[in-house]
Amino acid sequence: MSLQEIRSQQRGIQRQIQAIDNEEAKVKRSIKQVAKKGDAKNCRMLAKELIRSQRHKERLYTSKAQMNSIIMQLEHQLATLKVAGSLQKSGEVMKLVNQLAKLPEMSQTMQQMSMEMTKAGIMEEMIGDTMDMMDDDDIEEAADEEVNNILFQITDGMLGEAGNVGPALEARPAVEEEEEEDEEEGPELDMMQKPLNTGAQVDTVGLGTWLSKPDEVRKAVKHALENGYRHLDCAYVYCNEDEVGQGIRESGVPRQEIFITSKLWNTHHRKEYVKSAVKASLEALGVDYLDLYLVHWPVSFINSGTPEETPTVPTFDYLIPKKDGKLQIDTVDPLETWRAMEELVEEGYVKAIGLSNYNIEKISNILKHCKIQPSMLQVELHPALLQTELVEFCHKHQIGVTAYSPLGNNVYGEARVVDDPVIVSIAEKLGKSPAQVCISFAAQRGIVVIPKSVTPSRINENFQDFILDQQDFDAIAALGTRNTRYNDPGAKDWNVEIF
Ligand SMILES: NC(=O)c1ccc[n+]([C@@H]2O[C@H](COP(=O)([O-])OP(=O)(O)OC[C@H]3O[C@@H](n4cnc5c(N)ncnc54)[C@H](OP(=O)(O)O)[C@@H]3O)[C@@H](O)[C@H]2O)c1
Repeated sequence: MSLQEIRSQQRGIQRQIQAIDNEEAKVKRSIKQVAKKGDAKNCRMLAKELIRSQRHKERLYTSKAQMNSIIMQLEHQLATLKVAGSLQKSGEVMKLVNQLAKLPEMSQTMQQMSMEMTKAGIMEEMIGDTMDMMDDDDIEEAADEEVNNILFQITDGMLGEAGNVGPALEARPAVEEEEEEDEEEGPELDMMQKPLNTGAQVDTVGLGTWLSKPDEVRKAVKHALENGYRHLDCAYVYCNEDEVGQGIRESGVPRQEIFITSKLWNTHHRKEYVKSAVKASLEALGVDYLDLYLVHWPVSFINSGTPEETPTVPTFDYLIPKKDGKLQIDTVDPLETWRAMEELVEEGYVKAIGLSNYNIEKISNILKHCKIQPSMLQVELHPALLQTELVEFCHKHQIGVTAYSPLGNNVYGEARVVDDPVIVSIAEKLGKSPAQVCISFAAQRGIVVIPKSVTPSRINENFQDFILDQQDFDAIAALGTRNTRYNDPGAKDWNVEIF
């Protein structure tokens, strides 16, 4: 079994986990409903179902972690082997070859593991499996202990309203303490997916959708989804969310398998515009929720229309409002916008919220006053712009980081990072493309990365990451001293200081 196959199986496990998550969310909603009605019997039955599913999910997580560790080891060994080979250190090569000889053994284990996981299927089948594995007494015993916890936790006091419908609820077990411990640990980073601080997972490599000719994005999205991508980066200002939506539908990939990000444009920062803005993006994309919604820029523009007049797909004049040739800048308290973003989560329009193009000071202001913490910061990041302090700050505060323009896309006409001689020579040495080197560099920094392409072969090429050895990693990082920011419309077009 090849490394690629192992990784694709790992992705399969993640999808199963996601399917279980979705089912669990439904079961939780049902429990709330029956708890409200005072139906203790059904409440208990559903809670047991939830316990079984959670146990099964734990097993899948364990398998996924084991696979991940094997992938990391193999990638590391292969990378080292290549370097050793190129240096013609035959002794070292032999040592590594001997280690790699264990690969078939590992593959067998992986195959067994994978068969077990494939068996798992979705909820009903999964419950069946789990029932077979656990005897009834075990379930009863565990359920007695856990039903109270789960009911108390998920009904959040509603049982009080409904009357004493469930088992005794006095002992609220250490749910809160456990949650606190989890929070302290922060998101665990790996090369395949990153967990958000909401518990959701996002694929490390997603597809960017900015700047394309009509109909290109539709085809690109369809192609990407058909070839394994499950993460799309969109924005209202890209004026193509309708095409992205078409591409999603044409791919046939179910909505719940895809992580979709969109962004609130600068004309929608006042609280009365935020909901209309997200509704416009949802309508254009043809979906009923977003996985992540970001405040696109820390700069507000005046919106001369009403919220109801928000177009689904905007025109340039609507996006960049000018009077007598002058851009109409507005002054909106970022906390007003953030509060309205929080309401979108509370009302189910979006699952997580975040920021884009914010610096440490601006993020700190949000962190100080927020009810819901940002889950993601999206900023320009590539080998020539490392923003190390900002990345570390975010990771310390459990905010994920996404690299935009990871290939150093240069809209203002300077040389791109993928054309840099250092990147090109490392790529040649490793038999990779310069884009793959840049993408892997970002992923290896624990960063989500959203290269844009409308070219099918490049879309495939970009959907790969690999481990760079320390020497190559350091040589690439050394380009960071250039501190080249390619995308600064504040300085270049809007006449406002952003960074
Ligand atoms: N939050 C923000 O303010 C913000 C700002 C900028 C971008 N973004 C997001 O980040 C995404 C990526 O950034 P970006 O579009 O600026 O730049 P990018 O991904 O760094 O570069 C895109 C450019 O690189 C080319 N390209 C793609 N794959 C390639 C490969 N394997 N080899 C050589 N060239 C390749 C693309 O051409 P083809 O398409 O012709 O293949 C395109 O011209 C955007 O699409 C958008 O979703 C967000």
